Amino acid sequence: MSEYSLRIESLSKAYFNDTESSIILKNINLSVRKNEFLCILGPSGCGKTTLLRCIAGFEEHTGQIYVNDSLCTVPGMDRIMVFQDFNQLFPWKTVLQNILFPLKRKGINSTAERKEIAREALSKVKLSDYESYYPHQLSGGMKQRVAIAKALALKPDIILMDEPFAALDAMTRRELQNEMLTISQEESSTIIFVTHNIQEALILGTRNIVLQKGGEIILDEENSLTKPVTPNSEGYGAAWQRLRDAIYLSC
Ligand SMILES: Nc1ncnc2c1ncn2[C@@H]1O[C@H](COP(=O)(O)OP(=O)(O)O)[C@@H](O)[C@H]1O
Ligand SMILES: [Mg+2]
Repeated sequence: MSEYSLRIESLSKAYFNDTESSIILKNINLSVRKNEFLCILGPSGCGKTTLLRCIAGFEEHTGQIYVNDSLCTVPGMDRIMVFQDFNQLFPWKTVLQNILFPLKRKGINSTAERKEIAREALSKVKLSDYESYYPHQLSGGMKQRVAIAKALALKPDIILMDEPFAALDAMTRRELQNEMLTISQEESSTIIFVTHNIQEALILGTRNIVLQKGGEIILDEENSLTKPVTPNSEGYGAAWQRLRDAIYLSC
């Protein structure tokens, strides 16, 4: 079996309307190793969400996407997406039921087993005491934790995260970053994480890429800073500057 959980070959994506087409992603080639935490940065509108949506199987495109060497053309439980939007849970289901539901769809038929998996995932995001709450009774940060637990419970090959912490206040964001760091070090899923925030990428990522407007990768580098990363970490300033320059160069 390949060392890569994801391989993207010659991926291009255009949107068409009645009169014209616009190319969003152009000839993307990218391989992501198992267990890598890949952060994708880039200016607004450069195609980060579109790239995640292609990987998730939500968008038609040209080129090939392989997950664990299998060609992916449609959505599947091997790739689970976590969105920025707080409203990604079923409002009529409790926290526990929200996590149980996709486990049933995955084919785990034993109720006891589903509950055990769901509760284990809830404990990883520190929400064990809230399993009977409904989404409207949770803060934004707690809703994002449930969305992460839902993804973890499914044990996908790849978790796709589209600016999941962007709408949170600064303190909650730091808390969730810390938890995500711990989770990512303990879980076997590969994580692909879109963020606008360079500091967030340096704290979480093991590798960072910058997408240019027009959808080409203009920087691709390992994040060699020793975790936990703070602005005082050796090499932080230089790494921050490289990413910033690449993002601004592409604006
Ligand atoms: N469904 C769509 N139809 C047409 N254009 C779209 C659609 N979705 C996104 N786009 C365009 O594709 C470009 C990239 O969007 P997106 O991937 O959301 O960027 P990012 O996540 O980097 O901000 C934008 O110019 C956006 O307007
Ligand atoms: Mg986006």
